[in-house]
Amino acid sequence: MARPLGIGIVGTGQRCMFFFAPYLRAHPDKVRLECLADQDQARLQSAIEDLGRDIRPYGSIDAMLQDPLVDAVIITTPDWTHRQIFDKALDAGKHVICEKPMATTLEDALHMTRRAMAAQQVVQIGFMLRYAPFFVKLKEVVDSGLIGPLVQVSAAEVVEYYHGAAFFRRWHRFKRNSGGLLVHKASHTLDVINWIVGSAPAQVSAFGGINTFTPNPKAASRCRDCSLRPTCPAAYRPDDYNYVYQTGQERAAQAKHANDLCAYNSEKDSVDSAVLIAQYDSGVRLGFSFSTTGQRHERQLLLIGQRGQIRASQADGVITVEPVGEKPETTLLPEELRGEHGGGDDFLVDSFLECVATGSRPVAGVVAGLHSVALGAAATQSIDQGGCAVDLRQLQAELSRHPDGE
Ligand SMILES: NC(=O)c1ccc[n+]([C@@H]2O[C@H](COP(=O)([O-])OP(=O)(O)OC[C@H]3O[C@@H](n4cnc5c(N)ncnc54)[C@H](O)[C@@H]3O)[C@@H](O)[C@H]2O)c1
Repeated sequence: MARPLGIGIVGTGQRCMFFFAPYLRAHPDKVRLECLADQDQARLQSAIEDLGRDIRPYGSIDAMLQDPLVDAVIITTPDWTHRQIFDKALDAGKHVICEKPMATTLEDALHMTRRAMAAQQVVQIGFMLRYAPFFVKLKEVVDSGLIGPLVQVSAAEVVEYYHGAAFFRRWHRFKRNSGGLLVHKASHTLDVINWIVGSAPAQVSAFGGINTFTPNPKAASRCRDCSLRPTCPAAYRPDDYNYVYQTGQERAAQAKHANDLCAYNSEKDSVDSAVLIAQYDSGVRLGFSFSTTGQRHERQLLLIGQRGQIRASQADGVITVEPVGEKPETTLLPEELRGEHGGGDDFLVDSFLECVATGSRPVAGVVAGLHSVALGAAATQSIDQGGCAVDLRQLQAELSRHPDGE
């Protein structure tokens, strides 16, 4: 019997430790977590302690790629490191899952797209929403033609406040690390919109800024020293999920090591809210609002076709289809499929394994990664230039002949 696919994960942060690694460990019949790589020895060793000593630790991607049992690499390092690790993994002949955003700049995303197109391996981007039942259903309804050809999309993503604040404590708050939150965080929503529209973004214009997480002279730079802590919605909560993997040592000394940087007074250059408008190659138009101050996380879409509309709320798990001249029909998704990841994570890995086994193309491939970066980066550029339109049509022309081109 063939051995299960061997996986190496590079980057032992929260995405590795709270999703990929536990999922792979739970399915030894179909996949095997062979090794982990991280440049931070303390994190690497702690990850091995937490996951199991049979997993081999490596101090770098280069060392990990020498391991003969690694067939595929999952890249869960910070966004700005993806390009270099991605190239090395493909050069070594490995299949790849690269976390979103694929890159922090359009230039890197274009390079990586070309690189993957020239390779034989399976390359998937970590867009789990393409595998989440809520978005699969939305795409199905649009593709069925029930509301006629799509004309416009109005969409909004509101990130839950404490989660929003967490971005402004971590590396994500600088564009050089993440591309900014329109590239980093909005990437999922922009990607599923691109997928549902079924076309490439052509022109983009945006306005945005830092409206909420602005400096507050009354606040201290650390929550532990701050008099506003009792009433501050962003105040660090040691017992809450804080979007980081803490090492065993850090967990033991939590108060000392916790990252309780003030989300308002921290240095940053990413926006916390923005609106963008875009037009696709197909002529479909998009209006999208992004913000970080929600009571809960929500993605809302209004999909307008030539013969009706679809209203959808991910947080409520509701999809209402209203075709002209017909009765509206509402689908209610179960509670467990209404979360931010919409139940798509497991399906994403399963689909990757299936692609490797059958040689089929991933639903979330590199062109999806490129288009999402393109939309987010162009919007960020437009904001920096006072809202002027950024033209992406040249980019699409370069890729249009590839079969993965949407
Ligand atoms: N699909 C999703 O919904 C989702 C959710 C969370 C994170 N992510 C993505 O996963 C990636 C990781 O995010 P995270 O929150 O886990 O980050 P993190 O900061 O928690 O962890 C990153 C880890 O990578 C290590 N690292 C950094 N540079 C490295 C290098 N060159 N070589 C080896 N190790 C290196 C760090 O030491 C750290 O342990 C990001 O791209 C992020 O956007 C995706």
